[in-house]
Amino acid sequence: MSESPHDATTDPGDAGIGTQGILAPGPLRTDVAVVGAGLTGVVTAQLLAEGGANVVVLDAGTARMTTTARSTGKLSVLQGTRLARIARHGDDVVRDYLAAGFAGLGWLRRTLEDLNVPVESRDDLTVATTPEQVADVDAVLATCARQGLAAQWEEDPPYPARTLGAVRLPGQAQVDPLRMLSALRARLRSRGVPVHDGVRVRQVHRLGTGVALRTTRGTVLADRVVLATAVPPGRQGGLILRLEAGRSLLTTREVPDPGALPPGFAETMSITAGPPIRSLRMADGLLMVGGEGFVVGRERDPARRLAVLDEWTRGHLPVGPSRHAWAAQDYTSDTGLPFVGPAVPRDERVLVATGYGKWGLTSGAAAGLALAGRILGEPVEWGPALEPWARPPVPSSHTAATFAQQTKGWACAVGRPSGQRPGVTRVSRICPHFGGVVRWNDEEQSWDCPVHGSRFDPDGALLEGPATKGLAPR
Ligand SMILES: Cc1cc2nc3c(=O)[nH]c(=O)nc-3n(C[C@H](O)[C@H](O)[C@H](O)COP(=O)(O)OP(=O)(O)OC[C@H]3O[C@@H](n4cnc5c(N)ncnc54)[C@H](O)[C@@H]3O)c2cc1C
Ligand code: FES
Repeated sequence: MSESPHDATTDPGDAGIGTQGILAPGPLRTDVAVVGAGLTGVVTAQLLAEGGANVVVLDAGTARMTTTARSTGKLSVLQGTRLARIARHGDDVVRDYLAAGFAGLGWLRRTLEDLNVPVESRDDLTVATTPEQVADVDAVLATCARQGLAAQWEEDPPYPARTLGAVRLPGQAQVDPLRMLSALRARLRSRGVPVHDGVRVRQVHRLGTGVALRTTRGTVLADRVVLATAVPPGRQGGLILRLEAGRSLLTTREVPDPGALPPGFAETMSITAGPPIRSLRMADGLLMVGGEGFVVGRERDPARRLAVLDEWTRGHLPVGPSRHAWAAQDYTSDTGLPFVGPAVPRDERVLVATGYGKWGLTSGAAAGLALAGRILGEPVEWGPALEPWARPPVPSSHTAATFAQQTKGWACAVGRPSGQRPGVTRVSRICPHFGGVVRWNDEEQSWDCPVHGSRFDPDGALLEGPATKGLAPR
């Protein structure tokens, strides 16, 4: 797979940051340690610093490696059919979820305008392409109507394939996500907040009065910790059992004759209401197409999925040569709502933000507002609806599948399976997180764990996910 538009670019937010050496001669002490400098982490850290807290940000990688930078860049509260799913928890919960989304979107618009990062206004569409999807789109429309949103039914939406209608929500937006994140990181640093890239948190120890973080570059002692790591590292109160890791593909292609696009297409962003998911928008003159998602580590043939996406794009849109293709992953919770708050009920020392279900740009900014408000003693009104333990776990077929993968892993572990790719180290195939058996992903050249989505390079080094170390050499 070729790479994302960001892999070749320089990230100004990374300038001058060393990745060698230790953080401090002794333990580094701070009021709040924010782990993860994706969107959630940088928003949280900025608001905390503005509120007078002493903050340190730690990140295992760089801006370019975040899910934020590798996302589609839609800033929307419509979010496919997510509102209809959340409506199962009641209208009050939808109201709070929307309040969070609008707060996140508003904060981003204001802040990015200050930072001269272009935010382009777009209407967002959720499109029905099968009769089954019409019911889902109707449910989204009904939910919007109950909440007073100006969403409308559209019989003939500007979408490049046959549709059975769509819901349109005006006034949403799109952004270059790496540019957004780099500008936010740069501002954080310019305000004196240290952002340490290349520091992975391996262990989170709760102490009597605070938390000790054991990292790859020393210990950090903090009164409070925010795990803005897309998925919490390690186990963290069992939350990992309520999350599923979904990976999706994104591609860009040239559009030699923009006039041949469906009328109105370039002024909208769109996503289908169900499979096959197609998420579309124009980005700097290129067509961006996302879709063909799968559960990490459970897809036998990711290359086939990329071919399917590409064939669909060439069959439906007037496109020229391919420019980029990449994949990214995000985590969906069992309730369909983000988890933003204490990892363990009533323990304010360690806070998490996860479970955005591939809609964590608006929700990530909202999570930053909620977490910073909580720590500074100015809680947001809608915060309780998003707390991880606000409602009981919801066992589903996903939970059962994850449990089956885990049990299979433990059973296989007895045989100590290992794997090797040509020219690289032979590695154990047992995931160091919870003992899943990793599967080779030929398309991305990685070992992927089917249990909770950790990924490792061919030599076993950790790429992402809840594991905190790599595969053991064999
Ligand atoms: C294909 C795809 C398209 C998407 N498109 C959209 C979209 O258009 N609109 C939208 O709203 N959402 C979208 N999303 C979802 C959105 O991108 C994510 O929900 C959001 O970016 C998550 O932000 P984050 O800050 O929580 O995580 P990230 O951006 O992933 O940042 C987490 C950071 O934590 C660091 N980290 C992890 N573990 C550790 C550790 N142990 N120690 C130190 N650091 C650690 C990582 O290095 C990383 O930098 C998409 C997701 C995918 C997969
Ligand atoms: S990621 Fe949890 S077992 Fe592998």
